Amino acid sequence: MLLTGIRLENYRNIAGIDLRPSSQITLLYGLNGQGKTNLLEAVYLLGTGRPFRNVKVPDLIRHGWSNAAIWGQVQTAGVTSEITLQLEGRHRRVTVDGKVVQRAAELHGKLASVVFSPDDTAMVKLGPESRRRYLDRALYSSNAGFLHEYHDYYRTLKQRNALLRSSTTTALDIWSEQLLGSGIRLMRQRNRYVRHLLPLLQEHYRRIAGSGEPVGLTYCPDVDEADFLEQLEQCRESDLRHGATGRGPHRDDLEFLIDGRPLKTFGSQGQQRSFVLALKLAELDHLQQTLGEPPLMLLDDIASELDRERIHNLLGFLRQREVQVLITTTTTVGIDPGMLQTSSLYRMDAGTLTYEGTGPR
Ligand SMILES: Nc1ncnc2c1ncn2[C@@H]1O[C@H](COP(=O)(O)OP(=O)(O)O)[C@@H](O)[C@H]1O
Ligand SMILES: [Mg+2]
Repeated sequence: MLLTGIRLENYRNIAGIDLRPSSQITLLYGLNGQGKTNLLEAVYLLGTGRPFRNVKVPDLIRHGWSNAAIWGQVQTAGVTSEITLQLEGRHRRVTVDGKVVQRAAELHGKLASVVFSPDDTAMVKLGPESRRRYLDRALYSSNAGFLHEYHDYYRTLKQRNALLRSSTTTALDIWSEQLLGSGIRLMRQRNRYVRHLLPLLQEHYRRIAGSGEPVGLTYCPDVDEADFLEQLEQCRESDLRHGATGRGPHRDDLEFLIDGRPLKTFGSQGQQRSFVLALKLAELDHLQQTLGEPPLMLLDDIASELDRERIHNLLGFLRQREVQVLITTTTTVGIDPGMLQTSSLYRMDAGTLTYEGTGPR
């Protein structure tokens, strides 16, 4: 899977950029606030139809403008296609080879990417919501069908909650049954995905950290399949009082473990970073297995996350796996000179890119 060209227009602070990324490593460096993450976000957005940061569409359009556009050329399984994404007001319009994409699933597998950014490391310490969001996103990128199950559950939840707040609650049992059905399907998908990821995570962690302490990843559903309905019945009164469903997969969590203990409290910062990186590489492996070719890897602000040696090892690993990589960094200091020479190097300055002539373009 290759991104051979990308053009942005009025996307965040970027008035206009036309980039032909290297098939190997493209390195974007520049001071903070110049638009490096914005560019990676645009790549991710083009592939999924949604940004990796939790934002609203109007925020993506350059201030003072009414539209933004992203255009990309990708090669998947040797076939070249063009993806465009237009943003206007709160709306987005995606086309693949000139045809308007109606459902997000149609975009699936054209341009998959895995992101590793400081925000990802933060999810170790944040609440369950950020880990749940991560899990669902990763799951969706490997399985377009998951979106259906996801929406199904959350739509049902919304309807049950609306009912809880209304004056006639006679249909509550019906909605509880519905929630049970879609909730179980959602939990099974999450559980299966986590089980696939675990051995891959362990293998990458061992390699990255070079140490013996085992890591674990556990899916922690808020309710068991077997007693979900009973829980709903038990919480009926408090659900009615709060006007919201208290228990269910919308409360699920993902537990990160090191040496059998919570990574959040027992892992050093370095271990937490290595863990999340290993998790991302596990996601990459899994995507490669399901898509038949490696996705792109987007490494945001890499020098803030990893030391020199880890960057070196990571880039070596990705190169050997023939993964196309886009990296942003505030400094090229931690990057191996040999690696720099074989990367395409660009400086990002107030939303503009300057090619700095190193490596193949
Ligand atoms: N819709 C927008 N219009 C114009 N500028 C924006 C918009 N959204 C974000 N920005 C600007 O983009 C810059 C941040 O870009 P970012 O990609 O996060 O920088 P960095 O190079 O540090 O990764 C900030 O200066 C911010 O004000
Ligand atoms: Mg940034």
